[in-house]
Amino acid sequence: MGSVKLGAAVLAAGASLFAFAAQAEGNLNLICSADVVICEQMKGDFEKQSGISVNMVRLSSGETYAKIRAEARNPKTDIWWAGTGDPHLQAASEGLTLEYKSPMLDQLQDWAVKQAESAEYRTVGVYAGALGWGYNSELLKTKNLREPKCWADLLDPAWKGEIQMANPNSSGTAYTALASLVQIMGEEQAYDYLKKLNANISQYTKSGSAPVKAAARGETTVGIVFMHDAVSMTVEGFPVKSVAPCEGTGYEIGSMSIIKGAKNLDNAKKWYDWALTAEVQSRMKDAKSFQLPSNKNAEVPKEAPRFEDIKLIDYDFKTYGDPAKRKELLERWDREIGANAN
Ligand code: G6P
Repeated sequence: MGSVKLGAAVLAAGASLFAFAAQAEGNLNLICSADVVICEQMKGDFEKQSGISVNMVRLSSGETYAKIRAEARNPKTDIWWAGTGDPHLQAASEGLTLEYKSPMLDQLQDWAVKQAESAEYRTVGVYAGALGWGYNSELLKTKNLREPKCWADLLDPAWKGEIQMANPNSSGTAYTALASLVQIMGEEQAYDYLKKLNANISQYTKSGSAPVKAAARGETTVGIVFMHDAVSMTVEGFPVKSVAPCEGTGYEIGSMSIIKGAKNLDNAKKWYDWALTAEVQSRMKDAKSFQLPSNKNAEVPKEAPRFEDIKLIDYDFKTYGDPAKRKELLERWDREIGANAN
């Protein structure tokens, strides 16, 4: 009975890579930097299909980078799936991740392959998503606030204490916001903007999507997040509306990297190839994860914010994923904004 059920689940997931794999194929130590629901789904599906047992930890992108760097001499992690691309690129250029050319590469969108090429195949794109914010439309009404359509609108003193975003040291989402603003406005003006915005921020959270979850619960009015994270709150039934900023915005190439010195290297490669399949990426929407998939044959969820509808900047991943640049921007943020946070 149990094995019949398992077989059905494997077929239902549609993954052919490991159908009917034997149990006890060893372990895999995974850090997952996406939302916990999709992390759990990925872990469960992979375990079922491969027989490999996955030890999964959910950590934000910047936190993961710091952990991998701290453990470089004795890595505890085999594979890092998801999270924004910049810290993956930083890890790649510091030699913390391993070069791997997956046989799946030719099935991927150009932006995902470019991500791999620019890191000498030490990382690869798994999804993409645009930055924006989500607001609670009921709170907006009760508080008599106007819909914030532009970055500039968020500086209105009427928004004092009504906005949350994450801390760019821990969160890749917030680092994407910081780097996007620098690219849109220039560095001086971006920090000036962030200082003014600080007056309206009630809290800098650790994880990137936490602000819009708080907005959904009515704990804050606006959360600066990836637009797809706002959409998942709307799909969950919360009164959350997502916004693509009028001045333009940046985006992430969510990435995946194998850790150099991985103890379970074969299993890490199995995960890597598997996570790039159309079947696996098409199932992300079942966890209300509405990014754009990197496999060309994966189904684009109808809820996913379309890049054609958003004014996107030509985000310079090479520059903003560079270790020196990322360090410099974060240190300046700590000095000028973090130190004066509410
Ligand atoms: C959410 C988004 C992902 C993004 C991740 C970054 O989970 O859905 O698309 O990659 O946040 O997380 P972080 O906590 O590092 O901002």
